[in-house]
This record gives sequence, C-alpha cells and structure tokens, in this order.
Amino acid sequence: MAQPPSTWWLTGLSGAGKSTLAEALSQALVARGVRCFVLDGDVVRAGLCRDLGFSAADRQEHIRRVAEVARLMNEAGLQVICALISPARADREMARQIIGAEAFIEVYLATPLQACEARDPKGLYKRARAGSLPGFTGIDAPYEAPEAPAVGIDTSAESVETSLQQLLSLWAERR
Ligand code: ADX
Repeated sequence: MAQPPSTWWLTGLSGAGKSTLAEALSQALVARGVRCFVLDGDVVRAGLCRDLGFSAADRQEHIRRVAEVARLMNEAGLQVICALISPARADREMARQIIGAEAFIEVYLATPLQACEARDPKGLYKRARAGSLPGFTGIDAPYEAPEAPAVGIDTSAESVETSLQQLLSLWAERR
C-alpha cells in the first residue's frame, strides 16, 4: 500500500460506460483491500451540486467542486474514482491541477456517439434529438476528447471485464 492515493477521472459521453466501469473498478479495488470512493456526476448533482445546471459555467463549477472533494478524499487516504462527462478539456485540466498531476489519472471512455445513442439508458438522447433537452453533450453541446489520456477504452468494442483489466494493469504498474 505504498502508493499514494490517486484520482481516476473517467470522462466520456453520456452512456459511454463511465458509471459501470467506475463501479467495477471500485469493487475490484475494495476486493484488494483498498479504500476507495466513487464520485458519480448524477449522484453529486443530486446533492453537492444540486444548484448547478449544464451551461459551460455550471459544468465548470461542478467539476471544480468534484475535483476539490477528490483532493480532500485523496488526502484522507482514499482512492477516488470520478465519473463525469466533463466535456471541456480546460475543465479537466483544472481538475488535474486541483488534484495534482501525480495523482490524476485520466481515463477516456471513447465509446462512439452512435453506440451511446443506441444504448440510451435514460432516454435522454431521444429527448435531445427531439429538441426537448437543449445543450445535450454530443448532440448540440460539444465534447472535447482527451488528447493524451492514461487509458482510452471503447466500451462498444471491449467488455467491462477487459476494460477493468486495463485499469488494473495500470494500477499494478503504478504501485
Ligand atoms: S458534466 O458535463 O457536468 O460533467 P455530469 O457527468 O455531471 O455532466 O452529468 C451528466 C448526466 O446528466 C448525464 O448522464 C445525464 O443523465 C444528465 N444530463 C441532463 N442534462 C444533460 C445535458 N444537457 N448534457 C449532458 N448530460 C445531461
């Protein structure tokens, strides 16, 4: 357990598989005796960030708060797994600076829009296409893909288990 705590930052479109992979990673780490916590966009938005919407400024503030919480949790000795669309490169850079470059692990869920839209687990793409959910990421609001993520995973081409193994390999390398 010599490795200092990290924050895994899972970024990607809605429906890309962030929450699923975050939960799988959390369970795998807990099984290895590692204390960790998942900060999921939807969950954080129900409480800490309930005053925020989806404008660029609100998303930035949302990401700032989550990054600050992640930093505190890292300080407390927990591994943190963040699952947020975090569509703006500059906002993810801010998160990296808050958390510290050494601790920050950017994981890009590169699942293509077409696959996310076909899954549409919450029916939000359908609503966005119909025009009743303006500013939806990937439809009429931008997503800026990471240029140099630590890992890139397309969950339409790889299983949860294979994706998880990639993260656990990185985990082992960093120890
Ligand atoms: S982020 O862009 O601010 O990082 P976050 O990950 O917290 O987003 O929340 C994304 C979730 O909010 C989506 O999975 C979806 O359920 C919901 N949502 C509601 N409105 C939008 C929108 N306009 N764009 C993206 N996601 C939205």
